[in-house]
Amino acid sequence: MEKAIIGGTGVYDIGEACSREIETEYGSVTIDVVKTKSGEEVAFLARHGKGHSVPPHLINYRANIKALKDIGVKYIYTTCAVGSCNENFAPADVVVLKDFLDFTKTRPLTFYEGGEKGVVHVAMDAPYCPNLGRKFKEYAKTMGLNIKGDAVYACTEGPRFETASEIKMYKMLGADVVGMTNVPEVVLAKELGMCYQAIGIVTNWCTGIKGDVAGHDIKGAVESNKALISEIFMTVFTE
Ligand code: HPA
Repeated sequence: MEKAIIGGTGVYDIGEACSREIETEYGSVTIDVVKTKSGEEVAFLARHGKGHSVPPHLINYRANIKALKDIGVKYIYTTCAVGSCNENFAPADVVVLKDFLDFTKTRPLTFYEGGEKGVVHVAMDAPYCPNLGRKFKEYAKTMGLNIKGDAVYACTEGPRFETASEIKMYKMLGADVVGMTNVPEVVLAKELGMCYQAIGIVTNWCTGIKGDVAGHDIKGAVESNKALISEIFMTVFTE
């Protein structure tokens, strides 16, 4: 299987599938196998587990990415729920991630821990795959999904939301949106030479920007976009 989709918050399946258990040295991972219109198998993985049972800082990112690598995956699309600290990106908008700022603290962040595995300093000039990003945008246009723009993603440790001062800082440093899961996922995919592109679904204004985070309809924002985004992923993968 060369293609995979990782579903973020609110995206726990993308249609009819059968499940497979993949064992890796980092732990075992359940993936769903779905089919494109042309009959090609695509792997689907729910990042937080099926019932959103794993918080961001405890997700086994290495097992997830290694499992996909082990079954032959080369191309990964993912969704992630994000808060916005950019006035141009409002709740329910969709953005394409173009770069990240890493504010995580406690997560295993590499496959290369020295010893047998060696030491690798992977380049981060293009963490997200420009090719997958371009294809997503092309199909979004013809399939009626309005993409609001490209976004810099600040990854926080979570699981708590941010303080207003933290958001002010992230914004000053160049962040457009904030989430808790894209690092180290994108980094690990890059370490294993896979093309990875994340699509952000804005679920709320970040703390201190407008209103309060708890008052937003996080589920509704994902719900209103997930079918079309998944369809675009599957259409690109059918090419
Ligand atoms: N902050 C961090 N992660 C998030 C947010 C947020 O406001 N919204 C959705 N994921």
